[in-house]
Amino acid sequence: MEWESPFKSDILKGKVALLTGGGSGIGLGISTEFGKHGASVAIMGRRKSVLDSAVSYLQSLGIPAIGFEGDVRKQEDAKRVVELTVKQFGKIDILVNAAAGNFLVSPEDLSPNGFRTVLDIDSVGTFTMCHEALNYIKKGGPGRSSTSGGMILNISATLHYTASWYQIHVAAAKAAVDAVTRNLALEWGTDYDIRVNGIAPGPIGDTAGMRKLGPEEISNKSKEYMPLYKLGEKYDIAMAALYLASDADRGEKEQKEERRRVKKGLAGNV
Ligand code: HXC
Repeated sequence: MEWESPFKSDILKGKVALLTGGGSGIGLGISTEFGKHGASVAIMGRRKSVLDSAVSYLQSLGIPAIGFEGDVRKQEDAKRVVELTVKQFGKIDILVNAAAGNFLVSPEDLSPNGFRTVLDIDSVGTFTMCHEALNYIKKGGPGRSSTSGGMILNISATLHYTASWYQIHVAAAKAAVDAVTRNLALEWGTDYDIRVNGIAPGPIGDTAGMRKLGPEEISNKSKEYMPLYKLGEKYDIAMAALYLASDADRGEKEQKEERRRVKKGLAGNV
């Protein structure tokens, strides 16, 4: 369904966003709304055909968009894509980690390597992208002012808040993503003026995750327990992401001095 955005169409004007998994699902929803609100968009993904069709779609909306093939599990890919994004658009203001791996399997049938694979994509991949983007997204990075850093947004889930059938690996991976988000928000918010945020979507319609996790009969039944009697939409997540990426969400600069003192006090123990 097409909605009219409640935000002004230029709230991300001049900003550059790099999104992993930005060519499909929730990632593409965010890429689209970022672009429609003025951002230039680079998307990273493993499948060339997915990237190509997403880039064509974004460009058809008049959005400056480019796709880079890469796997977030490979540090060299992360580094290359970050550097290519800066080469193409001059800077990075926003990094969105939306790449994820998922399959349904019971714990007894899941090999340790299967468990590791999903953690590698979701959790280590998220950290790797943040790590490689730091020098560009921190205050004083290329194209940035000396006082203002950019924004990192990590997409997790809610299934690890309790427990979910056949999702032990994904639950562990998303719990780690949330931990990365909180710790970077503290450390890089304090040191580099980077706002690190997370969005934890519940079930979102028309996504690979939902197709795998929620066959229609389950989705229809579970709607009865949902306050609005409907699944979330990619647009809902994109709008939340848009707010967080915009200048409406600013950190409290005054609190940072106090945090720096605390950190300095601990430095001797590192
Ligand atoms: C059991 C499986 C498996 C399956 C892979 N493995 N698929 N085990 N059941 N269906 C195991 C393999 O046996 C192997 O372990 C290990 O995982 C690595 O498998 P590969 O196929 O070599 O890995 P790779 O080719 O890198 O593919 C990774 C993948 C990929 C995760 C399996 O297929 C993938 O990314 N799929 C789709 C992405 C996706 O669905 N994205 C949407 C995410 S939605 P062994 O021991 O045999 O070597 C999402 C939402 C979550 O994240 C929250 C929802 C509410």
